[in-house]
Amino acid sequence: MARGQLREDTYFYTGKIGNNPGDVMPFPVTREVLERGRERFNIFCAPCHSRVGDGNGFVPSRGFARKPPSYHIERLRKAPLGYFFDVMTEGFGIMPDYASQIPPQDRWNIVAYVRALQLSQNATMADVPAGQKIPSEPLKFRDAGTGASLPVLLPETNSNTEEHK
Ligand code: HEC
Repeated sequence: MARGQLREDTYFYTGKIGNNPGDVMPFPVTREVLERGRERFNIFCAPCHSRVGDGNGFVPSRGFARKPPSYHIERLRKAPLGYFFDVMTEGFGIMPDYASQIPPQDRWNIVAYVRALQLSQNATMADVPAGQKIPSEPLKFRDAGTGASLPVLLPETNSNTEEHK
């Protein structure tokens, strides 16, 4: 991939155009990108931000100094994509940076997934594909979870939800 040859000051490594965060992905968002982004997000970000990005992860609930803001507030819904990349790369306030733990490609994968989360929480009927039932079929759980453990879905009921052990 040519990407590896790009210099460290390009958009792919900074999320910035000049001094400002850009609002484009540096590569196309595919299903693989979103799935990888979800997987990385759930590992690196959900402990504090929660799996739905509302800031109610388990770390803040156990006395971490500050609760993160929800991704679903107006300001962050309108924030450009490069802003999220920059927050992961440089850190933000008391949140540490993840530049050494998460390579740039995965930081962008997470950016794409965070935007998908934001869109999913603010969807309207216009976003529902034709033929989709509203409400959709209820999910079937193998194990409903306890609050401390995560729910496990039966595989046949929801093929795009990963399972947790
Ligand atoms: C250890 C807990 C923790 C983890 C893990 C964490 N964050 Fe945060 N995050 C925070 C806190 C706390 C804030 C608010 C910081 C502040 O205001 O000083 C925050 C703020 C943010 C913001 C909002 C910045 C703004 O403008 O208000 C974004 C976006 C964000 N984090 C993205 C991420 C992403 C993406 C990940 C995963 C790579 C992640 N965070 C991992 C704790 C965390």
